[in-house]
Amino acid sequence: MSLGRDARIYVAGHRGLVGSALVRQLRAAGYENLVLRTHAELELTDADAVRAFFQLEKPQAVILAAAKVGGILANDTYPAEFIRENLVIQTNVVHEAWRAGVDRLLFLGSSCIYPRDCPQPMKEEYLLTGPLEPTNRAYAVAKIAGIEMCWSYNRQYGTRYLAVMPTNLFGLGDNYDLETSHVLPALIRKMHEGKKRGDQKVVVWGTGTPRREFLYSDDMAQACVYLLGLPDERFAKIVRPSILPLINVGAGKEITIRNLAELVAQVVGFSGELVFDTTKPDGMPQKLLDVSRLAALGWQPKYSLRRGIELTYGDFTTNVAASSADAQRLRA
Ligand SMILES: NC(=O)c1ccc[n+]([C@@H]2O[C@H](COP(=O)([O-])OP(=O)(O)OC[C@H]3O[C@@H](n4cnc5c(N)ncnc54)[C@H](OP(=O)(O)O)[C@@H]3O)[C@@H](O)[C@H]2O)c1
Repeated sequence: MSLGRDARIYVAGHRGLVGSALVRQLRAAGYENLVLRTHAELELTDADAVRAFFQLEKPQAVILAAAKVGGILANDTYPAEFIRENLVIQTNVVHEAWRAGVDRLLFLGSSCIYPRDCPQPMKEEYLLTGPLEPTNRAYAVAKIAGIEMCWSYNRQYGTRYLAVMPTNLFGLGDNYDLETSHVLPALIRKMHEGKKRGDQKVVVWGTGTPRREFLYSDDMAQACVYLLGLPDERFAKIVRPSILPLINVGAGKEITIRNLAELVAQVVGFSGELVFDTTKPDGMPQKLLDVSRLAALGWQPKYSLRRGIELTYGDFTTNVAASSADAQRLRA
């Protein structure tokens, strides 16, 4: 048995970077019976509201892509909010999904769950084998609790809940607020604005030496749709009570922040100098996921890094830069 195309699938956080890509990819795969609620319509930290929602809607499958998310600065500045909101959202959603009889659930985590000095590439079994990166420890601990929760429900209640750990994602509808954004959208915005102003240089945070892996959000979403749609016997290879229900989703390739900044500059058309502000934190020195478990199930990404950045920059110029230019004209 596998999930039918008419299955009711609840995508939590469907307006976010990951959630919106999930909706596009689910619809592209023929899943039309989606259950969606905005944050304003359903506050996922409200246990009573989440319980009432699940009892009313009775979805067959759930993808949990709602979370409090941010870059190094936001994680380091608001650790209490990151740990509390994420713990509460995932506790409410996983528990009420089980109470409502949801069979398959994908819990979206992040590669920051692995130890700071983890051997590279990072395999799923390296979870909880060493100290975490301090700048996002609160967020990572919440995500680790979510993985443990999926496993515990599988062991005690026989559910099939899978924690999906994506690498750094970017794509359509990304967050370009420099206070809270991740490195790639921040670079796109800085280079675009630098180009428009005719700046001679753009400042990039950190030394430029950390190596990172990036995946286009629609590729990540396609991997989730692929996993959710696996027939029972293949799904059971990764989700059964005796094994940690965890799977990495990545591109399997890494790039230094310096080379990434150069690539973004090429795509955006910024020809000035890149200056590295070494007083700013670098985060983990290297982060590359081992994606052999996913590859063994037959999934591979479709977009190159350059192609993903081109599509993302196109979306930025159409939807973000154009609307902020309109706002400036209106204020003037
Ligand atoms: N972006 C990445 O690079 C990346 C990488 C790896 C893993 N992930 C994982 O993917 C998941 C989604 O990330 P994302 O980048 O898509 O984040 P995002 O763009 O910030 O989207 C998160 C969504 O969750 C909603 N949300 C947040 N708090 C909520 C609440 N209390 N009740 C209801 N809805 C709430 C948000 O609604 P509002 O905007 O209205 O608050 C938003 O639609 C997270 O679990 C994250 O760990 C992301």
